[in-house]
Amino acid sequence: MTLVQWLLLRFEAPHGRVFWHDLRTMVNLFDSSSIHPAALDLGKLFEARGFELSLVGGPVRDLFLGSAALDLDFTTNATPDETLDVARDWADAHWEIGREFGTIGLRKGDAMIEVTTYRAEAYDPDSRKPMVAFARKLEDDLFRRDFTINAMALRLPNLELVDPYGGIQDLSAGILRTPGKPEDSFSDDPLRMMRAARFVSRLDVDPSADLVAAMTDMAERIRIISAERVRDELIKLINGDNPRRGVELLVSTGLADSVLPEIPALKLETDAQHHHKDVYEHSLTVLMQAKDLETDDGPVPAPDFTLRFAALMHDVGKPATRKLDGTGAVSFRHHDVVGAKLVKKRMRALRFDNETIKNVARLVELHMRFYGYGESGWTDSAVRRYVRDAGEQLERLHRLTRSDVTTRNKKKAQRLAHAYDDLERRIDELAEQEELDSMRPDLDGQQIMRILGIDPGPMVGKAYNYLLNVRLDEGSLGEEEAERRLKEWWASSDDS
Ligand code: CTP
Repeated sequence: MTLVQWLLLRFEAPHGRVFWHDLRTMVNLFDSSSIHPAALDLGKLFEARGFELSLVGGPVRDLFLGSAALDLDFTTNATPDETLDVARDWADAHWEIGREFGTIGLRKGDAMIEVTTYRAEAYDPDSRKPMVAFARKLEDDLFRRDFTINAMALRLPNLELVDPYGGIQDLSAGILRTPGKPEDSFSDDPLRMMRAARFVSRLDVDPSADLVAAMTDMAERIRIISAERVRDELIKLINGDNPRRGVELLVSTGLADSVLPEIPALKLETDAQHHHKDVYEHSLTVLMQAKDLETDDGPVPAPDFTLRFAALMHDVGKPATRKLDGTGAVSFRHHDVVGAKLVKKRMRALRFDNETIKNVARLVELHMRFYGYGESGWTDSAVRRYVRDAGEQLERLHRLTRSDVTTRNKKKAQRLAHAYDDLERRIDELAEQEELDSMRPDLDGQQIMRILGIDPGPMVGKAYNYLLNVRLDEGSLGEEEAERRLKEWWASSDDS
């Protein structure tokens, strides 16, 4: 496709998403400066040996979105052995671990590279193992890929864009579609249903109607996929720019019933008669509010999976603890503790690491603790206990608690925010006080007695206080200088 053709297409696109951005990217693309130099080098090497080589998938998609990737995926008509032959001496390192599936891994400088022989694989519908078959043409390889936006290739070294299934058009129109029938694609690899939700969250694209219908029909097929692969997609989904949309798609298609059933279960909590809040909607809002509180340069840099997942899951204990009293009021006693247990169980099933499980569960367990604060005010020891129980999760707990306010009552929201400001202020004050309290002079009582040749008594305390004041005024002096100053003070003291 030429630049002019592409521009014409762009003007015809249904809605003009990021037009100038695309234009700039396109110009960059054709002057090749935004392509990693290693990609161009490798393209020339393959061409010289009579093989085809194209950049493919994520890196091509990301070029159009204006972000350059360091993970470079290539596809080629060379066999794995031929790829090794061409690239072994050029690369800084190489891996043959995926060779059986047609993939050779290479590293060149900061670029991590995978070169895969054109694939025409089909998966056995009842198993997770792909049956490997190689294709002869690039277009065939592209056809078996998950989505049109990932089924584009850039031939190297001449930078010809190959986009047989309308990936660019879908990307600029913001549509997620499969190159062929979605049922076939999901049957090949059911993980692609999770990937669809991940791309909805990450790229803010709309899934096509047939894609959603296929996901809904085939949702249960996700159960043949390993927990680890599902977990990795879930993390990417939660860490996307619009995790709310990704989670909503999981829930509306029924995929969440298999991978994260605690979330659709929150929907049961809507109760018109006793009209307490819809916990599902509330949890999605808290997720987005928590995301908005992440700060790049602070202690919780974006995207922070632990905070976001805790925000999404913080109320999962509610369905099991819901009680109606005689007056029709609803309560969820101990839903924090019950929720923390459910979170642990779910995260273990999804094979999360112990550290992440512990941190998310701790946040869920503590998310209600602050609510006693406004009413009775806390003693210093209660504030200290809050800090100690939160441990390293304190910064996240601040953010989770603040984002857990979704009331439309502005006064109430303000009151809670001020109460939390006050709690944070007291935490800071106590920390400062404790730092002071733990400060010691450079010499202890024993040393003072030895140096001055005195017995225990009030003079030791006086000398100790003198040295403590010097320490506060001037910082640490070191033992030698402290001894000199102590003797000086003693000599000028009336008591010496
Ligand atoms: N792919 C696919 N089906 C899958 C997984 C991957 O068709 N189940 C193809 C897609 O063309 C995808 C490429 O393999 O673009 C690389 O996959 P992956 O690295 O997982 O995703 P990316 O699209 O590169 O995105 P990211 O790097 O952001 O994870």
